[in-house]
Amino acid sequence: MKAKLEEIRLAAEAQLAEPSADLEAIRIKYLGKKGELTAVLRGMGALTPEERPIVGAVANEVRAFIENAIAVKVEEQKKGALLDKLKAERIDITMPGDKIIAGRRHPLAQVRREMEDIFIGMGFSVVEGPEVEYDYYNFQALNIPENHPARDTQDTFYITDNILLRSQTSPVQVRTMEKQKPPIRVISPGRVYRSDAVDATHSPLFHQLEGLVVDKGITMGDLKGMLETFAKTMFGESTKIRFRPHHFPFTEPSAEVDVSCFVCGGKGCRLCKNEGWMEILGAGMVHPNVLRGCNIDPEEYSGFAFGMGIERIVMTKYNIDDMRLLYENDMRFLGQF
Ligand code: DAH
Repeated sequence: MKAKLEEIRLAAEAQLAEPSADLEAIRIKYLGKKGELTAVLRGMGALTPEERPIVGAVANEVRAFIENAIAVKVEEQKKGALLDKLKAERIDITMPGDKIIAGRRHPLAQVRREMEDIFIGMGFSVVEGPEVEYDYYNFQALNIPENHPARDTQDTFYITDNILLRSQTSPVQVRTMEKQKPPIRVISPGRVYRSDAVDATHSPLFHQLEGLVVDKGITMGDLKGMLETFAKTMFGESTKIRFRPHHFPFTEPSAEVDVSCFVCGGKGCRLCKNEGWMEILGAGMVHPNVLRGCNIDPEEYSGFAFGMGIERIVMTKYNIDDMRLLYENDMRFLGQF
């Protein structure tokens, strides 16, 4: 009987050594109710009382051996399965990743914000006005009466005889002065409209940024200093500005303002069309008629105003030669800013 037990032990050991051993089947085969070891134990009744404890001890030992061997194998197989799983799920970190394309601001919005930041830094607040505007604010209150020739250069889209799409941001000057008494220091960016055909430098919709300062003792020197600070911050520390006499109905005196070309420094190049200078805005001292129309006494207060095209600033800053690129929403273009 001892020999039979030893045989069982060896057979079980051999089966468990198989890499893909079916552990449950082995357990049933030897230790199950109808298993081989169980059968031997059942036959122990036939033994003599002297033999019984000796064979019993061997049988227990063989049972413990098989149980233990199965337990070890179970652990091994679990580990093996985990390793197989990890191997199968391994990530190849050398594979190219999924690219997440982050959006960005349109160059017009970027530059508008940059401009706003510069003026906010000089103490200006940002105000807005309506794009659908009264003729009164867009023209009359700005010293441009009906039939004034300045209206020809700013032909726009009319909703009714006296309601139109604003052709400039200057009406926000008047709206601000009607609401607020000096000191006033505001900028007003926004969309403006003109009845212009689309080409490289014209669009029926474009953007301007207006500025207005009204207080006691404001002079053209203040205007010049402030614009110089703006130009240097926007285009670089070595930028110079130049005033050329001009005419606007709502300012007196008026000027067009140029910045020195930041590419050639004023010598003349392709960007500035060999001029050395680039026009960026119109400006002047607020006309007494405009102040009076807003109930501000021109004997007591003076002010300056300026207005610039945001497209022009963007095109100057980034050397863009066709305005249409800003409106076509071609990602190959917009992705560069
Ligand atoms: N509104 C003018 C335009 O669209 C620009 C301008 C010139 C605005 C002089 C001003 C200014 O405030 O003082 O052409």
